[in-house]
Amino acid sequence: VDAVVAAEAAFARGEPVLIHDAADREGEVDIVYPAAAVDPEAVRRLRNDAGGLICVAIADEIAEAWELPFLADALSHPAAEAAHLDYDDRSSFSLPVNHRETFTGITDDDRALTISELGIAAEAAENGDFDADAFAETFRSPGHVTLLRGAPDLLADRQGHTELGLALAAAAGREPAVVVCEMVDDETGGARTPAEARAYAEREGLTYVEGRELLTRLG
Ligand code: 5RP
Ligand code: CA
Ligand code: ZN
Repeated sequence: VDAVVAAEAAFARGEPVLIHDAADREGEVDIVYPAAAVDPEAVRRLRNDAGGLICVAIADEIAEAWELPFLADALSHPAAEAAHLDYDDRSSFSLPVNHRETFTGITDDDRALTISELGIAAEAAENGDFDADAFAETFRSPGHVTLLRGAPDLLADRQGHTELGLALAAAAGREPAVVVCEMVDDETGGARTPAEARAYAEREGLTYVEGRELLTRLG
């Protein structure tokens, strides 16, 4: 089956997809889920089998509705000055948050609650039903799930996992929020190679898709 079709079908069912951005960008494979589908089991997979930073990407119009800035613009500390990346024009980091009903925010139960409620809130916000006040009543910052803000024109603007995941969510008819986490190799500590990530996907019965395939079909 075609990887993009398989990825859309998996997303529609709430299952994870592995996405490699590009060899000439980060060169990383992220495990990505539609946010509303995340349960404690999914967080366990992200922690154990991915191992990177667990983040939730939200579409630009949702970030706008929630008045969420890019972290780089919100920080006044000099460390945020000229914080250029070698592989992209800018970071998509926004605020780190926890759901207000979490305790520490880091347990699998806590992170699953924060992530799934972000997905549900993003769906409501898409229908104009969850504004910045509702966001602040429901979530607090700082927290243990980093929000990422998608570029306004998605893949036409930026080709990070942030936008690749959000474009896949839109194509699959999912809420405009996805959780992403980089796959790190336990032996080397570096990024898992596309070949290793593909082998993992096969073992687990998951879909692996190349960023360039998503760009061609959804960009
Ligand atoms: C957050 C990151 C990841 O690379 C994540 O994939 C989002 O970033 P990008 O959109 O730049 O790929 O840095 O852990
Ligand atoms: Ca990264
Ligand atoms: Zn990335």
